[in-house]
Amino acid sequence: MLESGYYNSKKTDDICEDVCGPASKAARLRCILKGFNLRALLALLIGVPLCIFGIYLHGQKITYFLRPLWESPPKPFNYIPHYYHENVSMENLCRLHGWGIRETPRRVFDAVLFNNELDILSIRWNELHPYVSEFILLESNSTFTGIVKPLFFAQHRDRFKFVESRLTYGTVGGRFVKGENPFVEESYQRVALDQLIRIAGISDDDLLIMSDTDEIPSGHTINLLRWCDEIPEKLHLQLRNYLYSFEFFLDDKSWRASVHRYRTGKTRYAHYRQSDELLADSGWHCSFCFRYIDEFIFKMRAYSHVDRVRFKYYLKRSRIQDVICQGADLFDMLPEEYTFKEIIGKMGPIPSSYSAVHLPGYLLQNVDKYKYLLPGNCMRESG
Ligand SMILES: *[C@@H]1O[C@H](CO)[C@@H](O)[C@H](O)[C@H]1NC(C)=O
Ligand SMILES: *[C@@H]1O[C@H](CO)[C@@H](O)[C@H](O)[C@H]1NC(C)=O
Repeated sequence: MLESGYYNSKKTDDICEDVCGPASKAARLRCILKGFNLRALLALLIGVPLCIFGIYLHGQKITYFLRPLWESPPKPFNYIPHYYHENVSMENLCRLHGWGIRETPRRVFDAVLFNNELDILSIRWNELHPYVSEFILLESNSTFTGIVKPLFFAQHRDRFKFVESRLTYGTVGGRFVKGENPFVEESYQRVALDQLIRIAGISDDDLLIMSDTDEIPSGHTINLLRWCDEIPEKLHLQLRNYLYSFEFFLDDKSWRASVHRYRTGKTRYAHYRQSDELLADSGWHCSFCFRYIDEFIFKMRAYSHVDRVRFKYYLKRSRIQDVICQGADLFDMLPEEYTFKEIIGKMGPIPSSYSAVHLPGYLLQNVDKYKYLLPGNCMRESG
């Protein structure tokens, strides 16, 4: 029994000859069909559950991959070429952009909704410090997803003494509504930030920077915009996208940061597209650039897209460390692009970059303190 079973399974290709023996052509055909049905049935029995399991595991990936079919790309921006060299006079720089120069620079207000990015905040404020009149920071005891969080800035305020005389700080209590779309809490906090900006004393034609903490405009960009006349009323900034550190350069498609000539009663703090104008190469967007693994876990849970943490093991510390060193995706997602060519081109981990040229100055002046943000230092401290 055992032997013949073994024999049969080994020579499955000949199943018809073995089982049916040599017979007429018609009988053989019927036999082959029967064998085919058996195989089809087996395939169905194994294949369908596998397929369902596969969709369960990778459903989000499949919809992302098919994105070019169900979503067309947004309207392209009007790119404004950006000229800069430290040795070119401001008058000439303004002229290169088709703008005139002002007698005095505009006042600049930099407003952020703070979550927990303390190191990135240091780098941001040091970068912008020479050009900003007033720093505005709002933090809440609720994440966008309604999780209670400490007031991280309040706890570490002494690290930021260098802006204290120019800081308008505010807090807003979370609403903690269960099961609500995180974007509702987010827009509630942005409205509170609008009030704080008015309290800070902004007036017409002052510049207002609207960006997340980790979207850092370069200092020379803000200096240009405060000195030149006739700049657009609303201008988005094209930033270089980095992930985990300045080792993993993803692309230069970050555009959400914007600079506004403030108009009382009209200007609203927002993080979506507000104009078609995009100034090229204006700074850095460093996502998930954290020192500690715990901060990654916190941010993954506090993220607006909570649905992305589909499996508990995504939050495992050893996995997160591996993902960081590989330049892979924390949520195991596909690239968010609008053409198959771009999706496929960007699949897989981000290759390492070895360039630390044209990075925020404060970072390079404090390499020992912020080593983990530089190429070749992907290991994170625990705690
Ligand atoms: C900057 O300008 C000065 C004077 O115009 C010149 O001597 C110097 O070589 C320039 N430096 C660079 C890096 O171009
Ligand atoms: C959040 O902050 C508000 C305002 O300060 C306070 O009333 C509320 O009790 C805080 N909630 C929690 C859960 O800490």
